[in-house]
Amino acid sequence: MLDLGCGGGRHSILLQERGHAVVGVDLCQEVVELAQENWETRNPGVDGPQFLLGDMRAPPVQGSFSVVLLMDASLGVFDDDAEHLRVLTAAADRLEPGGALVIELLNPYFWAHRNLTQHFPPGSVAANADILRSYRFDPLAGRVQDRITIFEDGARRVLPTQSLRCWTPPEIAGLSRAAGFSRVNIIGSDGWHVPNGPGRLDPESSATIWVLARL
Ligand SMILES: C[S@@+](CC[C@H](N)C(=O)[O-])C[C@H]1O[C@@H](n2cnc3c(N)ncnc32)[C@H](O)[C@@H]1O
Repeated sequence: MLDLGCGGGRHSILLQERGHAVVGVDLCQEVVELAQENWETRNPGVDGPQFLLGDMRAPPVQGSFSVVLLMDASLGVFDDDAEHLRVLTAAADRLEPGGALVIELLNPYFWAHRNLTQHFPPGSVAANADILRSYRFDPLAGRVQDRITIFEDGARRVLPTQSLRCWTPPEIAGLSRAAGFSRVNIIGSDGWHVPNGPGRLDPESSATIWVLARL
């Protein structure tokens, strides 16, 4: 399995622990190192996923994988949809015939009418810092602006805002087909649980959409 934009290895690690051979790719060196550390902490002395530094538009691996994953809105970071199409085309190139693509995305129908701010007190995410994370939907851009502010030692630090593209189901199905995928299914999720079957995409409760497509 190929986990593009693997971050700290959340999915790569769980899938490898369940017996799959996983390659995780991320653009950020620190994150690639963190993923490796996370594996070693959970599985000392055991061979784990291969974590590679690389760009999801040109992952430094050859086909053929049975599954490509793009989790937690990893697809959606680019300003231009032509770049998102490059990612999906690269995924198709690295899949075996009949291989599966799994994408988790923010559901625009849900986020369009929510201004959510979450507070993480000291001890929950960081030992000594209060963290605020706010999500604001930009209807003209069709994107969620994800902003993190850290309060620590009397100082306030705002991290660079992540702007995440949100697609409606027909839009993301069209982008997937343009990359060569044929059977495209869209499932709603509350954003915390993996959908375990065809699920209703509900504007009220489906914070995320999952795209399941095959070559
Ligand atoms: C929201 S995180 C998701 C991480 C992981 N998939 C998860 O579910 O925990 C998005 C990740 O995409 C990575 N990323 C951003 N642009 C990238 C690119 N062009 N190629 C590869 N990874 C990229 C970031 O470094 C970050 O780790």
